[in-house]
Amino acid sequence: DWTMAEFRATKIADIRAQVGEGRVICGLSGGVDSAVAAVLIHEAIGDQLTCVFVDHGLMRLGEAEQVVSLFREHYGIKLVHVNAEERFLGGLAGLTDPEKKRKFIGGEFIAVFEEEAKKIGGADFLAQGTLYPDVIESVSFTGGPSVTIKSHHNVGGLPERMNMKLVEPLRELFKDEVRVLGRELGLPEIFVGRHPFPGPGLAIRIPGEVSKERCDILRKADAVYLEEIRNAGLYDAIWQAFAVLLPVRTVGVMGDYRTYDSVCALRAVTSTDGMTADIYPFDAAFLSRVATRIINEVKGINRVVYDYTSKPPGTIEWE
Ligand code: XMP
Repeated sequence: DWTMAEFRATKIADIRAQVGEGRVICGLSGGVDSAVAAVLIHEAIGDQLTCVFVDHGLMRLGEAEQVVSLFREHYGIKLVHVNAEERFLGGLAGLTDPEKKRKFIGGEFIAVFEEEAKKIGGADFLAQGTLYPDVIESVSFTGGPSVTIKSHHNVGGLPERMNMKLVEPLRELFKDEVRVLGRELGLPEIFVGRHPFPGPGLAIRIPGEVSKERCDILRKADAVYLEEIRNAGLYDAIWQAFAVLLPVRTVGVMGDYRTYDSVCALRAVTSTDGMTADIYPFDAAFLSRVATRIINEVKGINRVVYDYTSKPPGTIEWE
């Protein structure tokens, strides 16, 4: 008979035993797994933990601020917030191939993380929010929804290179169990129940070249879409919902003017593990409300379409 409260107590004892007086560094992604791992480890060892949040500027609206205030203010966890937006957008300029974008982001993420770890004088342990499915699948780069430093870099051995041992307190858990543990640890529902978000962030939701301007347009459209989903009480029934900003412009009319702006695609799927997925069957009134709001409120978009593709044959993300 096993409860999450017991799991929490056991893991706290395990972490203390493993770490001793050592120093632990943990990369936060903004996702549930790394957040739950960090809060659990903080409960075990307090200020021996430093979190590093590499902010690549490819997060959704307000998300980076949310992570920082939750960790610093609410939990009092030592957190280094690295604003690396310019560095990431600079490197993404000119890249259009999806795998090249992913590869650049993964490599840059590791490079920034490593630099910051050095700046704070290194650590003995690297903490990761690795889950059981990551362990059994031995982590494919695009396979799972969880974001770990390991799955970000396919060049092997960040912990070895930095001479760190791994602390992975969630290795026995599935995603739904991590959410239960997160609630047990007092993480706010908006964090715990959040849809999975890919490590490369909005970069893989902007087919073609990524720019600051296009990220800003997508962030606004995505925020409108998610707000409507939450208002309709549908958020928890959906595995992932997001907007995609297409590199296609179409003609439209706004009042007396002709417009020539980008197309935005909306995606929403149900799934249990992200391996297969079905489209979410919104009613027509909901979709037309979202389309109208996006076109009225987001400059740069004048047409909205809904993606009706299941997985397979489609993938959840567009890239
Ligand atoms: P696909 O698009 O392959 O996505 O059907 C399955 C799940 O994985 C997420 N995903 C990623 N997660 N890095 C990540 O950390 C990635 O490069 C990546 N690509 C896709 C996707 O959001 C979905 O949950």
